[in-house]
Parts: sequence; structure tokens; C-alpha cells
Amino acid sequence: MQGIIFTQLSDLVIDKWGMTLWNEIVESVPTKSQGVYVGTQQYDDEEMLEMVGRLSEKTGVSPEDLMSAFGHYLFPKLAEWAPSAMKDIQSFKHLLLNIDSIIHFEVRRLYPDAYVPLIESKEIDEGVELKYISKRRLTKVMEGLIKGAADYFDTQCSLDFLGEAPDAENTFVYIVKTS
Ligand code: HEM
Repeated sequence: MQGIIFTQLSDLVIDKWGMTLWNEIVESVPTKSQGVYVGTQQYDDEEMLEMVGRLSEKTGVSPEDLMSAFGHYLFPKLAEWAPSAMKDIQSFKHLLLNIDSIIHFEVRRLYPDAYVPLIESKEIDEGVELKYISKRRLTKVMEGLIKGAADYFDTQCSLDFLGEAPDAENTFVYIVKTS
């Protein structure tokens, strides 16, 4: 997982719970990085999941809620980190329809080592249907990112998670109703 994800996780923990807690987490998780991350390098996915697990034990917040809060926090940070990916995006709906073809496409171009998920989107009567396809199965981070994006564009949205597609591996379906 790209270092930017880890630096943002550390910022969230430090903002919300303070430096002492972050240091405790880094010390309690046996990491290769020792909690020092470079935004453009890759780190083990496991490391993030262990950190979230430890954070959950220490704060009493469930890992699912932590992942969702993290996704929400992450969206504007990613947008700032790679402005070239965002420059042609005109609205929340335009973003949802182009996560793959514009946003993650640009991320892959800038950082060929990044493993970004596949996100298929299509316009439907109520709004947009998204299919999130990733071996990482970070469904709650996905939810948080969508909500963070709606806030970023000052748009109301309601999100329905329809669960894992029965006929495809690592594929999760969301309906985003936009106003
Ligand atoms: C609503 C908008 C977005 C959604 C739903 C979304 C979804 C996701 C998800 C779920 C992941 C986790 C990795 C995985 O599952 O495999 C991810 C990773 C990532 N996304 Fe997005 N994303 C969005 C917008 C953005 C934006 C605006 C940027 C940057 C301009 C961005 C850059 C990245 C990067 C750098 C990673 C990490 C890749 C890696 O670890 O190697 N995303 N995205």
C-alpha cells in the first residue's frame, strides 16, 4: 500500500487521539518501517490492518468504524496530494463516474507501483452504481471515501451497500443516490 495512505493514517490518529497513542501503536506493531513512511513508496498492506486492529483495542471504536472514518478523512488529502488527477473533475457525480478512467488512471501513471482497485461505475435512475473490485476488500474505506468526496463537493448523497457480488470474486456493489 502506498506510503501516502500510511502518512494519512498517522495524521488522523495524531489529530484525533494524540501523538502518545500513535507512538504506542507503532511500538506495539512489529513493522519494517517503524512508523516512518514516504508517500511515494509501497508498504505491506498487513501493516495497516494490524495498526487499525491495535487502534481499535485502544480506542474502543470498531475496526469497521475506524476504516470508514479513515476513508472520509483521506479523500481531501488524496485530492490535494495528486491535484493533476482532480483537475478535470467537475462534480461529485462526474467523479463517481470517472474514479477509474480519470482518477486512478492518473495515479497509475504517476506511481506505477501503486495497486489501485478497479472501480466500474455506471449511471442508473437513482444515481450511480459502483462495483469495487479489489483483493484488499477495504469496503469500509471505500464507503468513507465516497462520503468524503460528497463533502468535498458539498453534495448530499445516500449510500447503499449491496454486499459482495455472488458471481464475481472480490467484487462489492454500492448504489450512490445523488441529489
Ligand atoms: C470517491 C473517490 C475514490 C474512491 C471510491 C477510491 C477508492 C479507493 C480504494 C477503496 C482504495 C484502497 C485500495 C484497494 O482497495 O485496493 C484506493 C486506493 C488509492 N487511491 Fe483511490 N479512491 C478515490 C479517490 C482517489 C483520489 C482522488 C486519489 C488521488 C488523487 C486516489 C488515489 C489512491 C491511491 C494513491 C491509492 C493507494 C494505492 C496503493 O496503495 O498502492 N483515490 N482508492
